[in-house]
Amino acid sequence: MRRASAVPAPAVPREEPAEASAVVDFYGEHQAGIATEPQAHCTFVALDLREDVDRAGMARLMRILTDDAARLTAGSAALADSEPELAVLPARLTVTFGFGPRVAALVPEKPSPEWLGPLPAFSVDRLDPHYGDGDVLLQVASDDPLTLAHALRMLLKDARSFATVRWHQPGFRRARGSEKPGTTMRNLFGQIDGTVNPVPGTRDFDDLVWIADRSSWAHGGTGFVLRRIGMDLDKWDRLDREGREQSVGRTLDSGAPLTGSREHDEPDFAAKNAVGFPVIAEFAHIRRARLADPSQRIFRRGYNYDEPPFGTGVSHSGLLFASFQADVTHQFVPIQRSLDELDLLNEWLVPVGSAVFVIPPGCAPGGYIGETLLGA
Ligand code: HEM
Repeated sequence: MRRASAVPAPAVPREEPAEASAVVDFYGEHQAGIATEPQAHCTFVALDLREDVDRAGMARLMRILTDDAARLTAGSAALADSEPELAVLPARLTVTFGFGPRVAALVPEKPSPEWLGPLPAFSVDRLDPHYGDGDVLLQVASDDPLTLAHALRMLLKDARSFATVRWHQPGFRRARGSEKPGTTMRNLFGQIDGTVNPVPGTRDFDDLVWIADRSSWAHGGTGFVLRRIGMDLDKWDRLDREGREQSVGRTLDSGAPLTGSREHDEPDFAAKNAVGFPVIAEFAHIRRARLADPSQRIFRRGYNYDEPPFGTGVSHSGLLFASFQADVTHQFVPIQRSLDELDLLNEWLVPVGSAVFVIPPGCAPGGYIGETLLGA
């Protein structure tokens, strides 16, 4: 029997559908997978570095993983790819790397963003350490789950002698092509989720998302927060449609604010109903999540999760709430604090996982992700 490694790299199929062969550029000023229109599938993985990995070891690891990511996202097999046929349809595959506090601490002479570390405690949190923190983040996303699984396995095989898997969280949106491009996603409560979000390609997005500090190794990177938030669908079932819409301040069908008729209508937070109460309630999620200071906004790029139920339940689902922002303390934390103080949605939500990473800037061909920290 021939060993898998003896299989020659396959020729790229000529008749493949355009969607499957679509490539997102790996190289650039910023890492891919952030401003990229969200793919249908995304898996977030955190690694714990082995004790003996120092700065030079970490640089070796990132050179290898960068090479793998550059090849795989272009639809080419990784070096020593054991299943090269699985690499040929990238379907907009992106691989985005992040560093936790321990990686930053390998180079103490280069200061890291002050916010890098666990978030402050919030009263809603019921955190399970199995879904928290980590040294290295891999965010691997594609419109094709088979491509994603293969790419992730190649990366983890190459990381194996440097690090172990700490947690692994797969998420999904609707399949590519089932809705018009640009349609806002729905979460498992049935809500349109992601309407009010900075728009990639705009100055507003750039200002809110990318770290702009030329003296920092993180310049051109961003801050990443992942919150695993359980959604109690059984309890949600007991709430009528009006209550569901009141809890957020938007309708379920179009996602319009309760004061408007179309998804992107601007909510009127001052509007009152016939008996003088605010149409968008004080406890509504969208009122609580919008702070007065426009620099305190974040870019949300979350995914649904749906895992096997346990006990007598029929669901074990939630949201992998993922947000990117240049300054976690200034942008994410005050929003989360406001939601912690008051948000009717908290009745049905339980944050069970929390992790913060710096996403280093992108790199050019010949370079590697993390070089601004780990290099000379
Ligand atoms: C499972 C948990 C959550 C669910 C189901 C949820 C759901 C929603 C929905 C349906 C909207 C309205 C549509 C939109 O603009 O996207 C919304 C808006 C928003 N959410 Fe959440 N959300 C969750 C957690 C969070 C968390 C943890 C944060 C931040 C700490 C957050 C921040 C926001 C922001 C900033 C908006 C836009 C507010 C505005 O209109 O200015 N959400 N969310």
